[in-house]
Amino acid sequence: MKTSLALCVVSALAALAASLTAEQKLRNCNEVRAAFTSKGLNGNDVPNKGVHGAPLKVCPQSFSCCTVELEEKLSQQSHSEIKAPVSKLSTGLQSTFKQRHNHFDKFFRELLENAKRSLHNMFMRTYGAMYERNADLFRKFFESLTRYYASGAAAVNLESMLADFWDDLLERMFRLVNVQYEFSDAYMECVSRHTEQLQPFGDVPRKLRIQLKRAFVAARTFVRGLALMPEVVNKVSTVSASPSCVRAAMKMLYCPYCSGQVALKPCQNYCLNVMRGCLANQADLDAEWNNFLDAMLNLAERLEGPFNFESVMEPIDVKISDAIMNMQENSMQVSQKVFQGCGTPKTIAALRAQRSVKDPSFTGRFRPYSPEARPTTAAGTSLDRLTSEVKKKLKHAKKFWSTLPETVCADERTAPGDECWNGTAKSRYESVVIGNGLANQVSNPDVEVDITKPDIVIRRQISVLRDMTKLLKAAHSGTDISFETDEDGSGGEESGSGCDSPSCDTDMYFPTTPSVKVKVVPVHRSPGGAAGASAGSMALALCGLALALLAPHLR
Ligand SMILES: *[C@@H]1O[C@H](CO)[C@@H](O)[C@H](O)[C@H]1NC(C)=O
Repeated sequence: MKTSLALCVVSALAALAASLTAEQKLRNCNEVRAAFTSKGLNGNDVPNKGVHGAPLKVCPQSFSCCTVELEEKLSQQSHSEIKAPVSKLSTGLQSTFKQRHNHFDKFFRELLENAKRSLHNMFMRTYGAMYERNADLFRKFFESLTRYYASGAAAVNLESMLADFWDDLLERMFRLVNVQYEFSDAYMECVSRHTEQLQPFGDVPRKLRIQLKRAFVAARTFVRGLALMPEVVNKVSTVSASPSCVRAAMKMLYCPYCSGQVALKPCQNYCLNVMRGCLANQADLDAEWNNFLDAMLNLAERLEGPFNFESVMEPIDVKISDAIMNMQENSMQVSQKVFQGCGTPKTIAALRAQRSVKDPSFTGRFRPYSPEARPTTAAGTSLDRLTSEVKKKLKHAKKFWSTLPETVCADERTAPGDECWNGTAKSRYESVVIGNGLANQVSNPDVEVDITKPDIVIRRQISVLRDMTKLLKAAHSGTDISFETDEDGSGGEESGSGCDSPSCDTDMYFPTTPSVKVKVVPVHRSPGGAAGASAGSMALALCGLALALLAPHLR
């Protein structure tokens, strides 16, 4: 009792001494006015002389250069002052990931465009008019892929789209290799029923389906994740500060002015408590935010691995041409089996049939693939580089929300030790520093926080992040979760496993072709076709000849 009384007296005396020295300055408020003016506030709001025992709401009610009206204005000022660094950081984060999103999206779309163009050029040269007459099939194929990239399984059922594509291709090729026969629609339906069992294109359709699905699911989900980040940051950063936060901020930032101590910065721990109180809800976003970023980083692996979008899309022309070659090679057996299963079709005119029988298949068999000739994207980027860049940014964004208070209370805005404003005086800040997040704010000495009322906007964003994390994780294992009804998870696993070696890459370029065909001399695709008398131009010439022979029959 005695000691506390003594302490009380001592501290009262100390306070008196402090206020006395301050009071000297407060005699006139010129210094305060000048400081306010330099901060862009209206100096005329500051009274000429210090007011004693002013009925202030926030700042110490002793001798003061502030009035209640000024306190009101300072509150608004404080509000925007604590918002500024937060919104600056948020804006930076938003623009970083908006930019990344645009890069990736543009890159994937360009790869799709390039693959389409590359196939067109290759097939024009290989199959010429025969391709031109059937170009709609391939155009539709790429249109569907682009739609699948943009809108996912909701817009395109990849499996059935691919099945339709091969069916359609089989039908058209079947007619071409059997020009001497006439086929009804019903007959063709029978043919397509046999596709599964005949495997006319070899293993290409199956492999391509698995690769496309994995690559597209990874790419589009990753891009969605990148698009989500600025949205979340934007929504969270618009959450406005609570009145008690604004009051605490004003006390921290402007009460030193009111008491005449214009150059006094807040104590660092004091600032931390104020900002942790103010950003309690935002900090609760951190756990889910970090989970989301981890899932993004994991999925980024899929953009680098053997089934990445670039390595699946780039050689797609070669893969489809492999499939066509398989069909050409198997055309006899395929036709035979179809005739067995669906009956022998009617022949057309005898004359035509005779001529066609000699050369029933169209030839376009060469491998016009040369890595140097691959078109590059406008940005000249590769997926590897984009991915390693974005990974850095993603790692850097971790703990963004929970470290905001530290970032805001950085050195230049605060002062350590006891040469700082502790809320009531220029003295050491004695209170303990409390933790981040809403629950910890029960004991916040500076900001009153109702821990039973989490912010709705932020709660919503937490669940948005949680949902996206689920999609990202599913995409990592090759599943498009938005349409997981009858997907062949097993098919994806089957090929995904054990394919980490570089040999898998090779396998992707030459998926099904028997060894002999792989060794065919590669043709350099020069735009003018003036590559000299290479095996390729021989093949081209032969192909042209075959076409010339066939052309009259293909109507
Ligand atoms: C601020 O300093 C004064 C004077 O030393 C002291 O009485 C008060 O407890 C301090 N406040 C905090 C929160 O540390």
